[in-house]
Formats: sequence, C-alpha cells, structure tokens
Amino acid sequence: MRSWQEGYRGIVDDALLDDLAVEDRERAWRSRLDAPQAGARTLVAERDGAIAGFCRLAAPARDGDAEEGTAEVVALYVDPAAWRCGAGSALLDAALDALRADGWAGVTLWVLERNARGRAFYERMGFVPDSARQELPGLGVMEIRLSLALRSTDRG
Ligand SMILES: CC(C)(COP(=O)(O)OP(=O)(O)OC[C@H]1O[C@@H](n2cnc3c(N)ncnc32)[C@H](O)[C@@H]1OP(=O)(O)O)[C@@H](O)C(=O)NCCC(=O)NCCS
Repeated sequence: MRSWQEGYRGIVDDALLDDLAVEDRERAWRSRLDAPQAGARTLVAERDGAIAGFCRLAAPARDGDAEEGTAEVVALYVDPAAWRCGAGSALLDAALDALRADGWAGVTLWVLERNARGRAFYERMGFVPDSARQELPGLGVMEIRLSLALRSTDRG
C-alpha cells in the first residue's frame, strides 16, 4: 500500500491514495490468495525477515487481444523503504524464469503512462511498449502496455 501511495503520488488523485486502508487491501489480497486461480501465482521478496515486495502473475494474460502463449505481470510492488535495492528486479527475474520454465512465449503488463519510475524499471528489464493504451477503470489515468519476448535461450 505504501508502494501505491509513494509510487503513484502526483499521478493518481491524492484523495484516493490517502483513503487507501490497509485492512481493505489486506482483505482483498487474502481472498485472492485463499482462492487460488489456475495460472495465477504470487511471488514474495523477503528482506530482513519482512516482506519487501511481491509480484502477481496471470497465465494466460487477461487481455482479450492477448497473443497465444502470452502471460501477464498483473502487479509488482516493492516497499518504498527497499526501493533501488534490487528487490524489484529479483522478483521480476524469478517471475520471468518461472514463466519460461512453464513454456510461455511472452509476457505483457500494464503500467501507468506517467509512472516514470516503473517505466524506467521495466525498460531496464527489457520491456518495450506494444502500442496498446487504455484508461485505468475508475482512476481516470492512462496506462500503456509493455511486452517482452521470453526465449528459452535467455535462461542461464
Ligand atoms: C518499480 C519498482 C517495482 C522497482 O523496484 P526496485 O526494487 O526499486 O527496483 P530495482 O532496485 O531492482 O531496480 C532495478 C533497475 O531498475 C531501474 N530503476 C528502478 N527504479 C528507478 C528509478 N526510480 N529511476 C530510474 N531507474 C530506475 C534501474 O535501472 C535499476 O537499477 P540500478 O538501481 O542498478 O540503477 C518499485 O519502484 C515500485 O514498487 N514502484 C511503485 C509501484 C510500481 O510502480 N510498480 C510497477 C507498476 S505495476
């Protein structure tokens, strides 16, 4: 939640960010984790005994126009206290390895168009915009889709 509040300040409406309640987010994530969906997976990064971040995957990707063999990074959040310490790239690398191991050919994700931090991060990880763009429902902000090909030869 802190990752939302710090990461999206200035991009998403202040009131909405200030109104986020830990209990609501916790309840939503608990029900998601308690009712596993086929192809959904959540990876967690731990640092000094506490959760520093998480990454949620969907396979196949949820978009109606998703190409066959494409998975999706649904969410990737790192606690601001741990930003720039490598947690995000460790999570994403582990997620991409897991998708490659399961035979997925590519992966897409949606990122807020004005999220310069997130976009710089994904660019560094090799993602490129694929020209799809949409308004994030309920928030009045635009997001763009990024994609990455997953080739088995990339594996260490
Ligand atoms: C985007 C996010 C997940 C990155 O996590 P992180 O743990 O800080 O990332 P890393 O430390 O692994 O960074 C890896 C590389 O990404 C790039 N990067 C990360 N943050 C950056 C920033 N603020 N500005 C420019 N480049 C950045 C850098 O190249 C960095 O390597 P370096 O530190 O050696 O220069 C984190 O900032 C976050 O949770 N942001 C809020 C939520 C969000 O935007 N999520 C993504 C959209 S769903």
